[in-house]
Amino acid sequence: MTPTARVTLATLLARKKARQPISMLTAYDYPSAQIEDAAGVDCILVGDSAAQVILGHDSTLPISLDFLVTIAAAVRRGAPRCFLVGDMPFLSYQVNVEEGVRNAGRFLVEAGCDCVKIEGDRRFVRTVEAMSAASIPVMVHLGLRPQSVRQLGGYRAQARDAASALRMIEDAKMLESAGASAILLEAVPPEPARIIAESTQLPVIGCGAGPHCDGHVVVLHDMLGLTAGTTAKFVKRYADSRTGFAQAIAAYVADIGSRAYPAAEHCYEMAAGEAEKLRAAPNKS
Ligand code: KIV
Repeated sequence: MTPTARVTLATLLARKKARQPISMLTAYDYPSAQIEDAAGVDCILVGDSAAQVILGHDSTLPISLDFLVTIAAAVRRGAPRCFLVGDMPFLSYQVNVEEGVRNAGRFLVEAGCDCVKIEGDRRFVRTVEAMSAASIPVMVHLGLRPQSVRQLGGYRAQARDAASALRMIEDAKMLESAGASAILLEAVPPEPARIIAESTQLPVIGCGAGPHCDGHVVVLHDMLGLTAGTTAKFVKRYADSRTGFAQAIAAYVADIGSRAYPAAEHCYEMAAGEAEKLRAAPNKS
């Protein structure tokens, strides 16, 4: 049966309390959102990974706020039930707190999001405080933060030694105290993720953060097998959609070449007797 009850922050908190795992996927368009909503996905992230996944950039940095707000609104139209998270792109909240709050508000007002996500550690405590004071729920993204890829020196797992794990655990506590509504951990070993999930009231969503998180997210195109080449170690592939797409497109091209398409059933008919009249008309050159 298709689930109908809208997923809210209260739902996520209750799910954490009841130890019922939360499912989350990315979506960047209306039809994918419709499929996810109908399939029972709890949360959708309109991620800045759209820069790489659907725009073909080599990082998440070049995507604009306008673009993300536009596609988030499309996703909301397709998925009215899901808890919708809008990802704040690079430089939409790092420059100053006021600008961050105003930009975050656009996801709620213009796209109907339930929450925004920012990539940030303890240096973003003031930003989280200001968003929370403005009644904007904010998910904080810790661990591998792709917007900081130049500073981190590449896409690699974080918190792999005790000192950096302890710092991340402290970051999570500080951001929770500042008013964050949820935590996302990307590319973090299971042990620090477990400590964070057990020591906070907030729902903790893992993206390559092991089994102890309250929920899990991956990029839709990765799990569907639409992404070319290799994906991150933590991605489980549920379909080989790239092969399916390629076979269908090759069959279309072949049908056009052989004139198998379009066939009679794909053609519009003229009104009765009109084709004969047209054929008999003198001036049809
Ligand atoms: O932008 C995104 O899709 C993300 C996930 C990888 C967590 O931030």
